[in-house]
Amino acid sequence: MNKMTLGVNIDHVAVLREAREVNDPDILQALYVACESGADQITIHLREDRRHIQDLDVKNIISLSKVPVNLECSINREILDIVSELKPHRATLVPEKREEVTTEGGLDVFTYADKIAYSIELLHDSIIPVSLFVDPTMEAMEKSKELGAEMVELHTGHFANLFNMLNSALPHSNHSVKELELPRYELSSRLESSLEAIKNSAIHANKLGLEVAAGHGLNYQNVHKMMQIEEIIELNIGQSIIARSVFSGLSDAVKEMKRLTTRNA
Ligand code: PXP
Repeated sequence: MNKMTLGVNIDHVAVLREAREVNDPDILQALYVACESGADQITIHLREDRRHIQDLDVKNIISLSKVPVNLECSINREILDIVSELKPHRATLVPEKREEVTTEGGLDVFTYADKIAYSIELLHDSIIPVSLFVDPTMEAMEKSKELGAEMVELHTGHFANLFNMLNSALPHSNHSVKELELPRYELSSRLESSLEAIKNSAIHANKLGLEVAAGHGLNYQNVHKMMQIEEIIELNIGQSIIARSVFSGLSDAVKEMKRLTTRNA
């Protein structure tokens, strides 16, 4: 079996910081803790609207990180110029819509083929290897190779939604995925198909000479399914790790504040 690289996406720490416009939680502390705890890579997304990670964060993270930094970005020229200047270890091109909560689907490598090919060339001129965040289809693997990428990151969002609708309390929450409120046998069959698509895409990409990563919506319950696909050599995971850290750390955080706010009567 190939070794697996864990890319820890720390954007979500910056989401919390930006909600209060303070430097708490400090993104560089998150970088330090993630690296000390075994992250093989740090993944961050410099969004056009700068809703979480800021330009200065990218600069500091690249200069201080002990592990490679995978910088996600759109194919917007202004962003690409910043990325070329900042020189991360790799750039991952992702689709971006201002109104979305998070990256909703893979890059449309067909409609935007010329723009993507140009973006890859631009990044290559600055010696930055490029990965494309794409949906798991054979056609997308072939097109990614043709456009000049070194790597693909398979979008696992659909797989994760199916998995979570079947195996978690998601359907009974406010964030139930409406279009997946289906009978269990239907969800199971779609989950099987989505896993097949991921596996077949990974095998095909590998044959084409592309490295294969995967990410989006992966968590402590569903990640084992990705571990079974040998061709996938990197996973980028954010939300579930930061969400888990709230509960692994909340007890100590409350205890420490209780200690500071206890008076001897
Ligand atoms: N990979 C890519 C390309 C992403 O856009 C994201 C989300 O920012 C992730 C991985 C991580 O996804 P999640 O936060 O759902 O683990």
